[in-house]
Amino acid sequence: MASELVIEASGLERSFGDVHAVRGVDLSVRAGEIYGFLGPNGAGKSTVVKMLITLLAPSGGSARVLGHDIVAEADRIRLRIGTALQDASLDEKQSGREILRTQGELYGLTKPEIETRIGELSALIEVDAIDRWIGTYSGGMRRRLDLAASLMHNPDMLFLDEPTTGLDPTSRTKVWDEVRALNEQFGTTIFLTTQYLEEADELADRVGIISAGKIVAEGTPDDLKRSIGADVITVRTDDPEAAASALGALDVVDKVERGPRALLVSVTDGAAAVAPVAVALDAAGVQVAELTLRTPTLDDVFLEMTGERIEVKE
Ligand SMILES: Nc1ncnc2c1ncn2[C@@H]1O[C@H](COP(=O)(O)OP(=O)(O)O)[C@@H](O)[C@H]1O
Ligand SMILES: [Mg+2]
Repeated sequence: MASELVIEASGLERSFGDVHAVRGVDLSVRAGEIYGFLGPNGAGKSTVVKMLITLLAPSGGSARVLGHDIVAEADRIRLRIGTALQDASLDEKQSGREILRTQGELYGLTKPEIETRIGELSALIEVDAIDRWIGTYSGGMRRRLDLAASLMHNPDMLFLDEPTTGLDPTSRTKVWDEVRALNEQFGTTIFLTTQYLEEADELADRVGIISAGKIVAEGTPDDLKRSIGADVITVRTDDPEAAASALGALDVVDKVERGPRALLVSVTDGAAAVAPVAVALDAAGVQVAELTLRTPTLDDVFLEMTGERIEVKE
């Protein structure tokens, strides 16, 4: 059971006119895992999700979800998955309870089943909020209602498309807790897309990084970070120009990059490189406001694979 594959995609492609949005995606997701699909805006995440949940037909390649073909057996898949999509629009004039009832009816649950299920899921929504209009809900409450709706029919797996985009940090953490709890308590497999590195890092057992319609790296967060074999020294200074040229000349430095707030200096062995870096900056007469050593982040992995950073625009 442990290695049962619930998603198997092979060479999945999708074009919209001239736009080749998804360019040959292979995926293997195991039962019970949280798979994080990480990439910047426009990378193709939602398009992949929509093909897997059978809302969009592929232009090429194939995929099976829970053992069923996404084209030939779409109905079989839909009954067993839950989806909370990025562009889900909730009717402002309905209450949380009405949304959940409608969802239950859609999946053919009986009235008593619906009420029982709402009771079980009510922890996701503040009890006194469930009968209020959605119009009064905060962004975080809407996401959690959407999550509850996706769970009404007890799905075997869940697709969450950017579940926390635009949420404040507190609401984001709440959604993370819910996702983790679902996975731990019921063993629900979760496929979630995100443009947040910390989200993938925190939640996902395995991460696939997607850029321009292709998966450029895949593995556990730790493996991915280790794979680039580098530490990063960040240097904050008023004179990044002089600092960059002083450091670029050092043997221990692999690469120097200008970040928005600091220089990012890639080195193979962080502990051994800090001293020579500090000495070189001092010798060049560069005033340093801050110098820190850190292990790589998933953003460093993304940079390594694509030459760009994931920029999140709120
Ligand atoms: N219905 C559509 N019609 C035309 N282009 C689309 C459509 N859906 C997505 N695209 C394009 O496909 C690319 C991938 O989009 P999307 O899958 O939404 O990316 P992501 O979810 O990673 O932000 C983008 O260039 C986007 O503009
Ligand atoms: Mg999207």
